[in-house]
Amino acid sequence: MRIILFGPPGSGKGTQSAYLAMRAKIPLIATGDTLRAAVLAKSPLGCQVKRVMESGELVSDQLIVKLMLERLAQPDCRRGFLLDGFPRTRVQANSLKDNNIVIDYVVELVVAQSSLLKRLTGRLVHPVSGRVYHAEYNPPKRQGLDNLTGEPLIKRKDDCEETVYKRLQIYHKQTEPLTAYYQNCRQRGDAQAPCYLRVDGDGDIEQVSQRLGRGLGIAN
Ligand code: AP5
Ligand code: MG
Repeated sequence: MRIILFGPPGSGKGTQSAYLAMRAKIPLIATGDTLRAAVLAKSPLGCQVKRVMESGELVSDQLIVKLMLERLAQPDCRRGFLLDGFPRTRVQANSLKDNNIVIDYVVELVVAQSSLLKRLTGRLVHPVSGRVYHAEYNPPKRQGLDNLTGEPLIKRKDDCEETVYKRLQIYHKQTEPLTAYYQNCRQRGDAQAPCYLRVDGDGDIEQVSQRLGRGLGIAN
């Protein structure tokens, strides 16, 4: 199963994709997590993208497309994959098509705009694993500490209110148009058009997880 999980910042892509990939037994490829790991490791890639990510802008298509095509060529992707955070622009979507990478499902998580800001400004992350918590909606067992390692949780630099607004604007301008692009694939005569699912991402994490599982036919 080859799945793209779409949705604005804070819609729950990271939270849901971790469960979903495990249940579907496919690798999870999350561009944001990959880039943040590079920043943490201070690798050449990390140094290149740090400032752009912290400002809430998108990293260049050229860099992301190269990174993703290399990753998708790995043997573990032969039996499927779940993409969180890619594609985000028309150039990125075209790169999949141009390289004959067929997608089975595009899943859009639909969340009321008013919830997104609260979700993002209350988010806490474990920087090494990318595990995501929320101070109110999904608190860790011990305040400020990761459930599995006990290590400190941090706030993402791009989760301050001002940067969140900027990320939402960029999403609406550059990424949201891809929802129409994928929904209209079949009408344009694309025989390999993915199945498009809109899933209500409001409600608690467990409810959303069940909706996703039902939509994709994956048992919870
Ligand atoms: P990325 O890390 O992908 O960020 P994003 O798309 O902005 O999405 P988020 O990770 O902020 O939100 P999410 O949907 O994963 O929500 P989460 O599950 O954490 O990208 C970061 C940056 O990397 C970009 O800005 C860009 O610079 C760069 N980048 C990445 N990919 C790129 C690409 N393809 N091209 C160019 N640049 C790229 O949930 C959010 C919070 O809500 C959490 O606290 C969670 O606990 C809580 N929550 C989740 N679900 C629920 C629920 N149902 N109810 C209540 N709370 C919930
Ligand atoms: Mg995420």
